[in-house]
Amino acid sequence: MKVLITGGAGYIGSHACVEFLSAGYNLSVIDNLSNSKVEALRRVEKIANKSITFHKVDLLDYDALENVFKIEYDIGGVIHFAGLKAVGESLSVPLKYYQNNITGTVNLCALMNKYNIKNLVFSSSATVYGNPIKTPITEDFPLHVTNPYGQTKLTIETMLKDLYKSDPAWNISILRYFNTVGAHKSGLIGEDPRGTPNNLMPYITQVAIGKRDRLIVFGNDFATKDGTGIRDYIHVMDLAQGHLNAFKMLLTSPGLIVHNLGTGTGHSVLDMIQVFEKATGKVVPYTIMKRRDGDIGECYANVLKAKTELGFTVKNELYEMCEDSWRWQKNNPDGYEVKNIKEHPRKPFSDN
Ligand code: WQD
Repeated sequence: MKVLITGGAGYIGSHACVEFLSAGYNLSVIDNLSNSKVEALRRVEKIANKSITFHKVDLLDYDALENVFKIEYDIGGVIHFAGLKAVGESLSVPLKYYQNNITGTVNLCALMNKYNIKNLVFSSSATVYGNPIKTPITEDFPLHVTNPYGQTKLTIETMLKDLYKSDPAWNISILRYFNTVGAHKSGLIGEDPRGTPNNLMPYITQVAIGKRDRLIVFGNDFATKDGTGIRDYIHVMDLAQGHLNAFKMLLTSPGLIVHNLGTGTGHSVLDMIQVFEKATGKVVPYTIMKRRDGDIGECYANVLKAKTELGFTVKNELYEMCEDSWRWQKNNPDGYEVKNIKEHPRKPFSDN
């Protein structure tokens, strides 16, 4: 069976490609490369020793997207990662987020419907829980968003639920990610943020490699054990495994399912610094400053539902997440920026 992965050149998407290729699926990837590089797919092929069909297509380009569905006649399902995902940026350009994330998903689902492809795994986010009433968070918690990015995720979830109600032939998995960190153990693929990293782990690895002089810890006055923010960090390869579990579940028992993908354990910012230093032998200088607007104190998952229904279990602790993030950063100080290529330049992917 062929699986179509949107956003497959991105951080989580590329790791999911490795997981699905290793599980024996053939892959086609759609990515507009607005926040990723095709080099990531070349490295995925190297890791998995299998080839990927790549389409440089924007989900907003309906005709180009339909052309993919015309060419790729044997698609069994879609894993949908493509989307803008920076909370801060969404506050300054909300229309860009609404158009890109929601209209892109409408186009995708409309064409899936037209070509009778009804197995869909959607990349949602713990952001839909907003500031949770308590922790750990279960899937039946109230949903409340505080930024346009989170609103796009919640709106798409609602749209998918309506789509399923209108046609139960759809099989839809909604996966709510917690904080994804780490990298494939080969050190060949990883998180490659543009400009200044918004998220904690890539900022720490850039401090460790000397690109940034210190980490700013956003607040130590939260009602947590050490005052710094607590999150549920999950290794990107465990997250990728969760997508494979969910996709297989759709193939065997149809319906619409929602699951948290986290570890069920919360760690503070100071925990992360301490474990990172222990795992890598690097020092991470930091300064505690005031809170970042919109940050919440504590957020971590109850993962019982994913464990019992998807057979989902995480294999990596915070230590391995730090080790693997550092290996990627150390081996790739400039991410996928390919400088002074020595090897013979590869044949480019077919840009259908
Ligand atoms: C984690 C903790 C910060 C940076 C993000 C995305 C969200 C979702 C999950 C996609 C917080 C602290 C951070 C820094 C710091 N991803 N921090 N200094 O905010 O929980 O959510 O990941 O769906 O959309 O926004 O993650 O990594 O930004 O922050 O002290 O330089 O680290 O205050 O406590 P967040 P984060």
